[in-house]
Amino acid sequence: MKITILNGSPRMGGNTEIMADAFLEEAQKKGHDVVKINVGQMDVIGCMACESCFANDGVCVIEDDMTEVMTRLDETDLVVLASPIYWFDITAQLKAVIDRLYARAIKGFHIKESILLLDAMSDGVFNAATTWYKDVTDYVHWTDRGIICVPGMEAKGTMAEHPALEEVRDLAASL
Ligand SMILES: Cc1cc2nc3c(=O)[nH]c(=O)nc-3n(C[C@H](O)[C@H](O)[C@H](O)COP(=O)(O)O)c2cc1C
Repeated sequence: MKITILNGSPRMGGNTEIMADAFLEEAQKKGHDVVKINVGQMDVIGCMACESCFANDGVCVIEDDMTEVMTRLDETDLVVLASPIYWFDITAQLKAVIDRLYARAIKGFHIKESILLLDAMSDGVFNAATTWYKDVTDYVHWTDRGIICVPGMEAKGTMAEHPALEEVRDLAASL
C-alpha cells in the first residue's frame, strides 16, 4: 500500500525524523510504497476558511507547498503523523497541514488508515495530541493502526539509542 509519513519536526536529523526513518525503512522492507514528507521544513500556511475548495472540487486557492503534500495524500492509503510535542501538542507546521485538509472535507479522503508517532522531553505531555488524533481520525473514519509516544528525548539524537525505536519498527513491520 501507499504510506505517507508527515514529519512535523522542523529539526532535520532530530528525534522525530529518526523515528520516521526507522518506520520508513521497516515499511519499505515489507514492500510498501513509503514516502516521508518533511512538512516541518515546508512552506504551508493555515487554512483561510474561504471555502473556495467546497465550490471548486477540492482545489485550494492558496499556492504553497500544500499542493505537493495533497497530491501525495490523494493517493495515500495510510498516513503516519509524526511530531515532537511542542507545548503539549503537535507542531504548528503539522497542524497547518491538517487544517488544510479542510479542502477534502466535502470531496472525501483517499486515506483509510493512520498512525501517530510522538516524542517529547517529558512524560505525561501527550494527552492533548493523542485525544486530538483520536477525535480527528474518528471523524474522518480513518482506522487507527497505532499510537507510539516516546518521552525522555532530552537532546537531538537521543532517539537513536532508545528502545522505543524497536516498537516503531515492529509497528511498521506489522503492516
Ligand atoms: C518549541 C518547543 C516546545 C516544546 N515543548 C515541549 C513540551 O511541551 N513538553 C515536552 O516534554 N517537550 C517539549 N519540547 C521538547 C521536544 O518535544 C523534544 O525535544 C523532541 O524530541 C524534539 O524533537 P526533534 O528532535 O524532532 O526536534 C519542546 C521543544 C520545542 C523546540
